[in-house]
Amino acid sequence: MQKCLMSLWAVAFGLVVVGGWAMADDKDKPKHSIKDVMKTAMKGGLCKKVGDGSASDAEKKELLALFESLGKNKPPKGEEKSWKEKSEALVNAAKAAVDGKADAADQLKKAANCGACHKDHKAS
Ligand code: HEC
Repeated sequence: MQKCLMSLWAVAFGLVVVGGWAMADDKDKPKHSIKDVMKTAMKGGLCKKVGDGSASDAEKKELLALFESLGKNKPPKGEEKSWKEKSEALVNAAKAAVDGKADAADQLKKAANCGACHKDHKAS
């Protein structure tokens, strides 16, 4: 009985903490799910737009924010190390675009390798 109450409290406390984090916009909690990032950045063409140089500064920053969320998510399969490497490469490429680096498009093309990442980390 005592134990049961304790775990109830633990759950309630957990909810408060998680809720607080969400409100405080905690850095370690992903703002966007992997699917959201895929829809907007990959399938939606934002990544391509930044890659071919037709994106606005705001769009480049949006892409960077999306890719930063990516690495904070847990992929449905695959090793965490590989996931971190792949998502970091995307973050670095988007950063290069925000900073106006000349090789940003090349970095982006390499990092946004749909098939390679899906093979390792997408469930089906
Ligand atoms: C860094 C790794 C990575 C890269 C690069 C990547 N994807 Fe994905 N993608 C994923 C993962 C992981 C999932 C599975 C998400 C899930 O099931 O939660 C996914 C899922 C998807 C989905 C399905 C989304 C849904 O709602 O189920 C689409 C569409 C997609 N990716 C398109 C693309 C395209 C197009 C590219 C290349 C331009 C790309 N992705 C590049 C990791 C990646």
